[in-house]
Amino acid sequence: RQRESQSLYQLTEKAADFYRNQLRAHPAAGRAIAYLRGRGLSGEIARDFGIGLAPPGWDNLLNELGDTAQNADLLEQAGLAIRRQDSDGNTKPGSRHHYDRFRNRIMFPIRDQRGRVIAFGGRVLGDDKPKYLNSPETPIFHKSRELYGLWEARQANRTLDRLIVVEGYMDVVALAQFGIRCAVATLGTACGEEHIQLAFRHTPELVFCFDGDQAGRTAAKRALEAALPHMQDGRSLRFLLLPEGEDPDTLVRQVGGERFQQMIDEQGRPLEDFLFDLLGEGINLQTMDGRARLSKLAAPLLDLLPAGVYRQLMFQQLAARTGLDKDTLQEVISAEKARAA
Ligand code: UTP
Ligand code: MN
Ligand code: MN
Ligand code: MN
Ligand code: MN
Repeated sequence: RQRESQSLYQLTEKAADFYRNQLRAHPAAGRAIAYLRGRGLSGEIARDFGIGLAPPGWDNLLNELGDTAQNADLLEQAGLAIRRQDSDGNTKPGSRHHYDRFRNRIMFPIRDQRGRVIAFGGRVLGDDKPKYLNSPETPIFHKSRELYGLWEARQANRTLDRLIVVEGYMDVVALAQFGIRCAVATLGTACGEEHIQLAFRHTPELVFCFDGDQAGRTAAKRALEAALPHMQDGRSLRFLLLPEGEDPDTLVRQVGGERFQQMIDEQGRPLEDFLFDLLGEGINLQTMDGRARLSKLAAPLLDLLPAGVYRQLMFQQLAARTGLDKDTLQEVISAEKARAA
């Protein structure tokens, strides 16, 4: 197992080198570079993130790294090659029976906390679908446990006062282009508890900055729930809601890095505001019914908070908003737990 993982790390590293070189050397590189320039990225940032090119064609990487059947199998294990199926639906052994997973895409290497390349995200150069293709789960890549850009952020900062959590590769890279070198992205998956724990291991403050669309708002709600159990004292969480149709990439290119930072500072909603706004949507707190509904919605969520001052303060907030005292709120929690069980 250990040996096998070692060779997978070596292989993904070599693949990253290959893709990076193709961005300089391949005949299709001109178009790829023009695409990156068109998105406002400099050569320096592309280098910092190790951005590369998977050229058009079915076997560029296989020819480079999959010369033997054994190496082709390793490429498959690394998520970089796919085994063809014959007409019976059986898979065939041997190198000629694989094809490259990533073809004609801009390649973003994903590094683990130690800086080792473990996977890739690949973007089409135009409007084809799917827009992004990610490595599958492999023995060295578990997407629920990795954050794109974390290693690069740690390289760029001695201490991380905060991490900005965004949705996409391009958001991370565009923010870096504008001097904001502390953004990380989940990898085509929802931001879950393991992502939150990982991020809080490196910084006391998280700022969620998801796209200004329905998917982004849904992602923010899910991230909120995932974060609540990990809100120990001294940690903080904020949400920057973007204007409809914008994402961090489009916004920072419009307003610049300084203004973007300022927006986080001035408009980033603290967890408590965000949570109560969200729960309070469509609830009239002037009525008894409204206050009862808010406490029923909020109490079980706040109950996810670990013991500490922060938990106490949040319950005080809820008490103030609903006019209920602590004992009554405790009863609401118990009743809701009993109902859910
Ligand atoms: P978005 O759909 O917001 O990407 O997906 P985008 O901002 O439009 O992409 P650009 O700016 O045109 O390049 C955000 C993230 O969701 C994942 C990727 O990680 C992407 O960065 N995603 C999106 C996929 O995994 N597959 C897809 O087909 C689309
Ligand atoms: Mn594993
Ligand atoms: Mn989106
Ligand atoms: Mn987006
Ligand atoms: Mn985008």
